[in-house]
Amino acid sequence: MTSISPPKNRLWWNEPIEKVELIWITLVFLWGLVMAFMMPYWHVAGNQNLSNETYKITPAAYLAKTQAMVDQYTVRTGPAPKNFPVVHPPAGSDVYLVARLWDWWPILELEKDQTYRVHLSSIDWQHGFSLQPAAINIQVVPDYEHVVSLTPNKAGDYSVFCNEYCGLLHHTMINTIHVVE
Ligand code: CUA
Repeated sequence: MTSISPPKNRLWWNEPIEKVELIWITLVFLWGLVMAFMMPYWHVAGNQNLSNETYKITPAAYLAKTQAMVDQYTVRTGPAPKNFPVVHPPAGSDVYLVARLWDWWPILELEKDQTYRVHLSSIDWQHGFSLQPAAINIQVVPDYEHVVSLTPNKAGDYSVFCNEYCGLLHHTMINTIHVVE
């Protein structure tokens, strides 16, 4: 029989189920249960799942909070052509990062082994915060302020990428977070 000739048996779909197929269906179902259980389990037992807080905020209010931090704690100017301020807030404080077309602003400088409350929000539309090589990924949307507790445990320069397509210069939406000893 080929696919263009009609099947011999008209009720071809009404065959008893093959034993091996039944075994596969059972295995897949059981694995699905394991995976479903792992989501809540790993959230509690794993150490790479972020529990974040979310608050309603307007883009203007978020920008103002970030600007206040920048005004207070800028320590130098970052590399050209953007010349963004490099901000070194006090250890353990609240730090703010603005997502916008097509920047992460400002450049944060954090201290190793200190816990910060990192605030993230967008002032235009959806972006994706991707911290590499730590592989932390968070959706960043306007009107919501996400707060993540973060303790950098390794000094170095981390890259922040945008991983939600946000238009023409999406691929240039890159910045750095410095972690210093
Ligand atoms: Cu912002 Cu892509």
